[in-house]
Amino acid sequence: MSRSAKLATLAASVVAGIVASAGMMAVAQKAPAPKHVATSKSLGIGREAKPQEIAGWDIDIRPDGQGLPPGKGTVKQGEAIYMQQCAACHGEFGESAGRWPIVAGGAGTLASHDPVKSIGSYWPYASTVIDYIRRAMPFGNAQSLSNDELYAVTAYVLYLNDVIKDEDFELNATTFKTIRLPNEANFRDDDRDTAEKALWRKNPCMTNCMPGPAKVTGRARVIDVTPEPGKGPKVE
Ligand code: HEC
Repeated sequence: MSRSAKLATLAASVVAGIVASAGMMAVAQKAPAPKHVATSKSLGIGREAKPQEIAGWDIDIRPDGQGLPPGKGTVKQGEAIYMQQCAACHGEFGESAGRWPIVAGGAGTLASHDPVKSIGSYWPYASTVIDYIRRAMPFGNAQSLSNDELYAVTAYVLYLNDVIKDEDFELNATTFKTIRLPNEANFRDDDRDTAEKALWRKNPCMTNCMPGPAKVTGRARVIDVTPEPGKGPKVE
């Protein structure tokens, strides 16, 4: 079978599959051979990504540790790297310098009026920390850290968040799996499709659902949501 005939047969069976899965078996027919089948070659733009290029992007690290690179580093080693490459923006203790983001602090503030969301107070998994630092930091010089530097500086950031308490702790692909962030339990899968199903209407209204014309019941100006000059909260 020629290449284009093969593709046409494939396209026909895919179309037949879609039609069948839509429960319209009766109208399923062999699709006419398409006049032109686009392949990556015939598009005439770009080229296929090389395996090394894909590998460069395929660097995600998952909560169970899948994707961790080989390497190791201690909190102590990380401190030196952090002071040199991170503290100028994130502050010596992760408290932030100027208006750069904090990377530590805020423990116990989530339920307060001013929640401070940091790795220690909010983030669910240490994998997000190491993945993020690996792909994006130091800001402006991303992906410049060696794997050992990455483990070390991640260990130090976790130390700043009181997640790791011993400065001789060595972070590597094995010890990584022992790390738990304090707020993990407050993240859970979205279960609304089962938990709230009883509350759903059987036939939800999708058009013209208001019985009459819409009525304005309040205006932001009247209920005074905009702080007047000098009366709002202090902004740095
Ligand atoms: C030039 C300033 C700068 C330097 C140096 C820098 N960062 Fe950052 N960092 C940032 C900025 C800006 C963001 C936020 C980026 C964004 O949201 O897109 C950030 C975000 C982060 C975050 C996520 C914070 C959060 O809660 O969202 C972590 C973790 C982090 N940096 C770690 C590091 C580490 C570790 C280093 C040193 C290896 C480092 N950064 C160096 C500027 C910097």
